[in-house]
Formats: sequence, structure tokens, C-alpha cells
Amino acid sequence: MDNLILIGFMGAGKTTVGKLLAREKGLQFVDTDDRIVAEQKQSIPDIFSKYGESFFRDLETDLLRRMKEDTRHSVISVGGGMPVREENRQLLRALGCVIYLTAEKETILGRVKSDGSRPMLNGEDLEQRVERLMRERESSYRKAAHLCVRTDGRNVHQVAQIIRQETRRILDA
Ligand code: S3P
Repeated sequence: MDNLILIGFMGAGKTTVGKLLAREKGLQFVDTDDRIVAEQKQSIPDIFSKYGESFFRDLETDLLRRMKEDTRHSVISVGGGMPVREENRQLLRALGCVIYLTAEKETILGRVKSDGSRPMLNGEDLEQRVERLMRERESSYRKAAHLCVRTDGRNVHQVAQIIRQETRRILDA
């Protein structure tokens, strides 16, 4: 168990918390969305609009399979939809300690904008979309996670500190 993996809904803070944790601990930071964008040489909205969501989901699974072989001593932030597939949940748990960053719908709505960078949130009525997706995904997040950390009312430093405390044995190993 030598990677720390952050999962959770869009806007839960996976990337910001992950970068901070990695910097503090001298670990590498890996963001699955960034890797997909670099490998495909196009943005996430472009991938969704040209090839559709299921193509993107296949890219996510393919990346996780490869990461199982080549990624160690890293903090990994994964896209919000990654834990929905059963195979992905198994791959995530095999990669390391999976931490679910939770947040209430109101917190998420305060953090995300319908700005075009997140195709899953495009369209009418952001609040309804967020509510539905959060409801649909909650059990997948719980099944994938070794540990859940609440982020509501906490800043990035406080969340990172809780994770450090809870995972000390893993990080210092
Ligand atoms: C998605 C979340 C995004 C990105 C893609 C799909 C999702 O990542 O992978 O837009 O389905 O929840 P973030 O959770 O980092 O925003």
C-alpha cells in the first residue's frame, strides 16, 4: 500500500488536497485527468464531445491498469467518475490506500461552476445534475474507499492534516 489515492465528487478537493499532501511528503503527484489529457493531446471536453463518455471511461480504466504496474510512492487524484466501474474500484484498491473526500451538495455547488471544463456538469440545472450524480455515485465511492474524510467547513490544510494523521503508518512506511 504505497500510494495514496483520492476519490470523490467533482469539487471535493482531490486535486488541491493531493498536491499539498504530495508536496509536504515529498511524494510524486499524479492526476488521472492530466495524464489522459497529455496522452490524448486533447482536453477532457474535447474527448467527451468527439468520442463520448464511454470512450473516456475506457481511457480511465486503461490508465488505471497501467498505473498498477508503474506507479509507486505517489499521491493520485482520480476523476470523479472513476470509482463507478467495478473493475476500476478493484484496481484503485490494489493501487494503494483509497481516501474518499466527502462533501455536502451545497459545498460542492459552492466549489464547482458550470464553466464547460466538466462535461458531466454541462446543461441545464446544475443543482439537479449534481444531486442526481452524487446520489448515483455515493455507494460506489463508499465501496472503493478504505477511509472517508469530510471536507465541509474545512480548508485544504485541515483536510490534508487529517489524512496525514489517519494514514501515518502508510506514508512513513
Ligand atoms: C468527471 C470528473 C472530472 C473528469 C471528467 C468526468 C466525472 O474530474 O474526470 O470531467 O464524471 O465526475 P474531477 O473530479 O477532477 O473534476
